Amino acid sequence: MLGNFSYSNPTKLYFGERALDSLSGELQNYGKNVLLVYGGGSIRKNGIYGEVVNILKTCGKEVFEDAGVMPNPTVEKLCEGCRRAKESNADLILAVGGGSVCDYAKAVSVSAYCEEAPWDKYFLRMEDVDNKIIPVGCVLTMVGTGSEMNGGTVITNHESKLKIGHVFGDNVFPKFSILNPIFTFTLPKYQMVAGFFDIMSHILEQYFSGGDDNTSDYIMEGLLRSLIHSSKRAVANPMDYEARSNIMWTATWALNTLVAKGKATDWMVHMIGQAVGAYTDATHGMTLSAVSMPYYRFILPDGLQKFKRYAVNVWDVSPDGKTDREIAGEGLDRMEAYMEEIGLVMSVKELGVTEGMLDGIANSTFMMDGGYRALSAADVRMILEESMG
Ligand code: NZQ
Ligand code: ZN
Repeated sequence: MLGNFSYSNPTKLYFGERALDSLSGELQNYGKNVLLVYGGGSIRKNGIYGEVVNILKTCGKEVFEDAGVMPNPTVEKLCEGCRRAKESNADLILAVGGGSVCDYAKAVSVSAYCEEAPWDKYFLRMEDVDNKIIPVGCVLTMVGTGSEMNGGTVITNHESKLKIGHVFGDNVFPKFSILNPIFTFTLPKYQMVAGFFDIMSHILEQYFSGGDDNTSDYIMEGLLRSLIHSSKRAVANPMDYEARSNIMWTATWALNTLVAKGKATDWMVHMIGQAVGAYTDATHGMTLSAVSMPYYRFILPDGLQKFKRYAVNVWDVSPDGKTDREIAGEGLDRMEAYMEEIGLVMSVKELGVTEGMLDGIANSTFMMDGGYRALSAADVRMILEESMG
């Protein structure tokens, strides 16, 4: 049964090969000062930087830059961004990059005028924003996080070994996002497939929860089928526009809040993955792929009917003559084979996790209670040990 909810999503999307043409129209809605935020330089190499700056200049904007946003942006970088946003009196923060850049832009947008330490207020105490918010726009270059159409922002604190996400409300969502699938063509294969699994994981986190039969479950099965189909095509030919555009659109719908409405959600793969990320700084999607199979096999008995449905509706497992347990198990086996086929990391060891880190990771994993089984730190340790191989 669907619970009670309200739904709105204020982000305006521009999608397709000519999506960037819409930037100049959007820029009319904001003042002169634009803080251009980007990562380690991929946009300079592939020419997106030049195209964007050209549009900003043609529109008469004063452009200030905040470059060097790292994958898994840090609390120190966030403080630097706040200084730059205030110094430039930014009317708009324009994020050009992947989830890290978009997340960071949102974090700066709520933190620049925050009078307390943003890490404490937003990430430790999970408080809502009560100060001026600088509007954010995104030009997306890496597909996976859904950050282009949600209020999520994930920040890493290496000193305390914590990676924490805060999901803000509508007022922090990007005002607009520009999605041109061609901008993702230059991604290295490792990043591309990590993004594919991030999408899959977002869907599964919202699918494997509740015993209910609702519209969201059917939408998610469709999104998963599209993702599996298109990701195989994209791995075979990364320049396949049809596949890459389908995946870009799927990523947005996987985490723009729609499919979670009215149902419980799990998020334990992300909680374990984030704890692994805090210790290793590994690529987000790979932290998820490395822990997913041991986690899902562990909770399968608790969510048997949903895992059976997943096997049949998503992985085309034939149920004939098999027990529920066999059907569900075969679904996970097919998922594992797919993950290996597209080149995902299947072991946390490969991400730099050592035996000595296991207790720290297990004990710092945030526990959520919306999934099929409430985990203990000992359960998380066991899942990590499985992943170590
Ligand atoms: O920094 P540059 O040089 O731009 O290189 C990036 C980076 O090294 C590169 N890249 C991006 N677009 C490229 C490209 N290289 C070549 N061509 C392009 N077109 O890819 C690398 C990874 O980028 P990053 O932004 O870190 O990846 P992703 O989009 O996966 O973002 C990861 C961050 O998002 C958070 C993660 O925790 C992590 O911090 N998440 C945000 C969520 C949200 N807002 O809702 C949810 C997710 O679950 C996730 O937690
Ligand atoms: Zn994710």
